[in-house]
Amino acid sequence: MFHISILMQLFLSAAVASWSVLYSPKSICVFESSSVEFSCSFDFLYGRIVTSKWFKPRAYEKQDGSQEGRFVYHSNPAEIHKRYKNRTTFANQDRNCSLTLHNVSKKDIGRYFFRFETQYQFGKFTGSNGIDLNVAGLPFGVTVNTQKTNGEVYEGDSVTLRCSTENCTPRKGPFVWFKNGLLLPQATEQEFTFSSVSHQDFGNYSCGLNNSDRTATNETLLDVRYSPKNVQITIFPSGEIEEGDSVTLKCISNANPALTNYTWFKISDTNVSYVGYDSKRILRTVDQKDAGRYFCVAMNDMGSQSSTVIELKVKVHDRPHFLLFTMAALLFGIALTLIIFGLMKRRKQFISKKQFTEKTTTVTFTEEVYENLKKSLQFEENVTNLIYADLMLPPSSSDRPRHNSQEDSTVIYSIPKNKEDH
Ligand SMILES: *[C@@H]1O[C@H](CO)[C@@H](O)[C@H](O)[C@H]1NC(C)=O
Ligand SMILES: *[C@@H]1O[C@H](CO)[C@@H](O)[C@H](O)[C@H]1NC(C)=O
Ligand SMILES: *[C@@H]1O[C@H](CO)[C@@H](O)[C@H](O)[C@H]1NC(C)=O
Ligand SMILES: *[C@@H]1O[C@H](CO)[C@@H](O)[C@H](O)[C@H]1NC(C)=O
Ligand SMILES: *[C@@H]1O[C@H](CO)[C@@H](O)[C@H](O)[C@H]1NC(C)=O
Ligand SMILES: *[C@@H]1O[C@H](CO)[C@@H](O)[C@H](O)[C@H]1NC(C)=O
Ligand SMILES: *[C@@H]1O[C@H](CO)[C@@H](O)[C@H](O)[C@H]1NC(C)=O
Ligand SMILES: *[C@@H]1O[C@H](CO)[C@@H](O)[C@H](O)[C@H]1NC(C)=O
Repeated sequence: MFHISILMQLFLSAAVASWSVLYSPKSICVFESSSVEFSCSFDFLYGRIVTSKWFKPRAYEKQDGSQEGRFVYHSNPAEIHKRYKNRTTFANQDRNCSLTLHNVSKKDIGRYFFRFETQYQFGKFTGSNGIDLNVAGLPFGVTVNTQKTNGEVYEGDSVTLRCSTENCTPRKGPFVWFKNGLLLPQATEQEFTFSSVSHQDFGNYSCGLNNSDRTATNETLLDVRYSPKNVQITIFPSGEIEEGDSVTLKCISNANPALTNYTWFKISDTNVSYVGYDSKRILRTVDQKDAGRYFCVAMNDMGSQSSTVIELKVKVHDRPHFLLFTMAALLFGIALTLIIFGLMKRRKQFISKKQFTEKTTTVTFTEEVYENLKKSLQFEENVTNLIYADLMLPPSSSDRPRHNSQEDSTVIYSIPKNKEDH
């Protein structure tokens, strides 16, 4: 009975136990200078553990557990490689082979194996899978993945930003993303995808883990290339522009890469004409010919866009002195004309009197001529009376136009006078 019971127990334990080492996880990524735990459990069928060890084969050695390389941990401390002395904590419990490695550095990158040995020649076992340790180097950086082979990003492309650290990226909690230093609350994954990237997505991106002590991060420019947007014309100086002023029209736009070509157009009636090819149009002494509606077309490698049309209004320059001189000259001219006219009239009267006396003297020679002249003069006198009578008929109405014209002249005069006051 006793023997049967022992045999049963041995059989049962054999059914659940075996010679094994189980690691979890199979590979680990940790930040430099942090601690890493290699979770490990082992089992055996008989014997007593006399030696337990963790080792790491050298890079050129076989990575299947057949070559032991350096001892990271050893139940005999003298065997531990100097690089790992005092840097490990071994669980040292029944069937628990977990090992914690402190202050990890890039030199620790590699595959780690656990081996245990019983007192029996064939009671020795190595977990041959091993655990791969990778060490992430800070800072976090953003890599831009695009479908374009030249690596350039064009508006409308599908673009994926990936947050990573050198060698590998530990996955501990949510990621955080920043654009131009501002948190993007919608982005919490390691990858951030734009299905159709816009010019508004242009900017510096950085990322990290939502973890206070691992936030060192490097910015990456998402250099979205796009054709000119919001093309506008600015006028300097702003405000009213007078003849003779210097005016600068500038064609501005949001574009990436920067604008390369500009074309200026002027619209006059239905005629659209090229007027320049520079980013600025400097009109040194503006006159009425420069007035009109303008627009510019901005161009970069990606395309072009035209601005809205702006109107350049040029105010006629006030010249009060010139006007005054003109007025004075005009008045002087009128006065001179009146004087000349008056003089001429008097002279005419004098001449006609003189002619009359001359004629009367000649009349003495020929009575016939005198009589004829007398007749004609009488006829003329009648005609004059007739005309005079006609003119006399509307006596009051002849005054009105004269009065009106006087009013008009004061109005005309008052315009430049008022302007002069300004
Ligand atoms: C190892 O660590 C112990 C305590 O943690 C310390 O007393 C000892 O000086 C360390 N030895 C070396 C070589 O660093
Ligand atoms: C093994 O030991 C480690 C370190 O002491 C501990 O964290 C872990 O929980 C243990 N595993 C088991 C299965 O007990
Ligand atoms: C961690 O290891 C580095 C070398 O890899 C060493 O310079 C540093 O002093 C160590 N830090 C601690 C806390 O032991
Ligand atoms: C991006 O970063 C670079 C370098 O720090 C800086 O020159 C540039 O102005 C930044 N761009 C934006 C849009 O913030
Ligand atoms: C980051 O962690 C803080 C608390 O530590 C939490 O309030 C915040 O919501 C987290 N942010 C993200 C994006 O997970
Ligand atoms: C961080 O960015 C700078 C400038 O872009 C670069 O020179 C440096 O190598 C980057 N550092 C890392 C660790 O990527
Ligand atoms: C843009 O300007 C460059 C010189 O500045 C000229 O060579 C090129 O032909 C222009 N492109 C167009 C499309 O006008
Ligand atoms: C249009 O304007 C241009 C430049 O001012 C001028 O040379 C051309 O004769 C004009 N054409 C018409 C039809 O007015």
